[in-house]
Amino acid sequence: MAKQTGTAKLTIGDKELDLPMYSPSVGPDVIDIRALYAQGGVFTYDPGFTSTASCDSTITFIDGGKGELLHRGYPIDQLAEKSHYLEVCYLLLYGELPSATELEEFEGTITNHTMIHEQMHMFFRGFRRDAHPMATMVGVVGAMSAFYHDSTDISDPRQREIASHRLIAKMPTIAAMAYKYSIGQPFIYPKNSLDFAANFLHMCFAVPAENYEVDPILARAMDRIFTLHADHEQNASTSTVRLASSSGANPFACIAAGIACLWGPAHGGANQACLEMLKEIGTPDRIPEFIARAKDKDDPFRLMGFGHRVYKNTDPRATVLKQSADEVLELLGVENNPLLQVAKELEQTALSDPYFAEKKLFPNVDFYSGIILEAMGFPTSMFTPIFALSRTVGWISQWKEQLSDPAHKIGRPRQLYMGAEMRDYVDVENR
Ligand code: CMC
Repeated sequence: MAKQTGTAKLTIGDKELDLPMYSPSVGPDVIDIRALYAQGGVFTYDPGFTSTASCDSTITFIDGGKGELLHRGYPIDQLAEKSHYLEVCYLLLYGELPSATELEEFEGTITNHTMIHEQMHMFFRGFRRDAHPMATMVGVVGAMSAFYHDSTDISDPRQREIASHRLIAKMPTIAAMAYKYSIGQPFIYPKNSLDFAANFLHMCFAVPAENYEVDPILARAMDRIFTLHADHEQNASTSTVRLASSSGANPFACIAAGIACLWGPAHGGANQACLEMLKEIGTPDRIPEFIARAKDKDDPFRLMGFGHRVYKNTDPRATVLKQSADEVLELLGVENNPLLQVAKELEQTALSDPYFAEKKLFPNVDFYSGIILEAMGFPTSMFTPIFALSRTVGWISQWKEQLSDPAHKIGRPRQLYMGAEMRDYVDVENR
């Protein structure tokens, strides 16, 4: 916990309270209101947590104004260019970049945990073929707690570490299996000779009947998508994982809760929603109609893949992915794909429209990741599972940090109650 660096004075009626303030290493100061109810008899009110720090953390920092995202201090654009996903996983989990030996050992550990318990295959078969892969993932990841009992004791640091490695390693296998099941193809086992991203592509696109060679450019683009989604401080799904964990729930249950939250279209589901929107627009001539709808206050329609709660200038992840999108589209020779034409024109039209400029709305990471994944051949239903498998390390790192904090306690927000005051029960014949 940071040291007190100031005091905020708060007047409530005739009471004057001194509230401690802390300064973070970067970012705005915070006011500690933990004693507010005890001393002032009031709660604070902040639906959506727009002004509330729910924990202290050393993992990720975002400066939304500057469009900056740092993992353990390292800017995301440098990590995306010079590092790779498993190295970023190590950095997020352990706090520092690994030495060559540490990295080799970590990669070996993850590679050796990619298979899932054979009996878990039965779970997949219990789902309907048309189940959304996110529904399958919520179920299967939650079910891991029924299979890996030796890593559910959260008071044992070694068990916490084993659970972390298992989740990072097995999530791509589970996502790929959910996909294979949905299209009626046999499951493809992980291949230890491939790196993390190439192995995922192999498990998704290989079939037993023929050889599948992973294109290194596609594997690199996949790895970038994983890296860019690895963590994003206290977003909705991460806060869900922390809240679930605050009650002492096991790691697999907590991550299943995170996956469920990520599924929503305002969060990780936006990449799927964005591609569906592009398909609905269909042709560039219909773009003005959809832009007009996005601006119309009486129409709930929003441009999916645009805007962000924290970034109000640019999404640094989107900047990197835009470049990746160009590379992938060129490699695959699909620059003239009609859907991608709509995406490009929509981006240009929105960026030059004063409504979007005034409200600081610009393409976010989901806009470009959707385009790349579509070009690679993933169905839209797989976009959010790919986000989930990438974000697992962020959830796990935040979970691990929370459990190592001796001061952590169960999360229990208060409320502004606007319901009926106490009243007497009325028998049914008198209502
Ligand atoms: N299209 C049209 N108008 C928008 C959009 C949009 N995509 N996003 C925000 N606005 C308008 C909104 O109508 C509001 O206008 P007004 O002030 O006149 O009422 C203003 O901009 C502020 O919007 P808000 O809903 O108060 O902002 P928020 O910070 O609560 O929401 C958001 C952020 C990401 C949920 C929102 O921008 C949105 O719904 N975007 C589309 C979904 C999307 O792409 N989500 C992915 C986010 S990035 C991945 C992740 O981190 O999960």
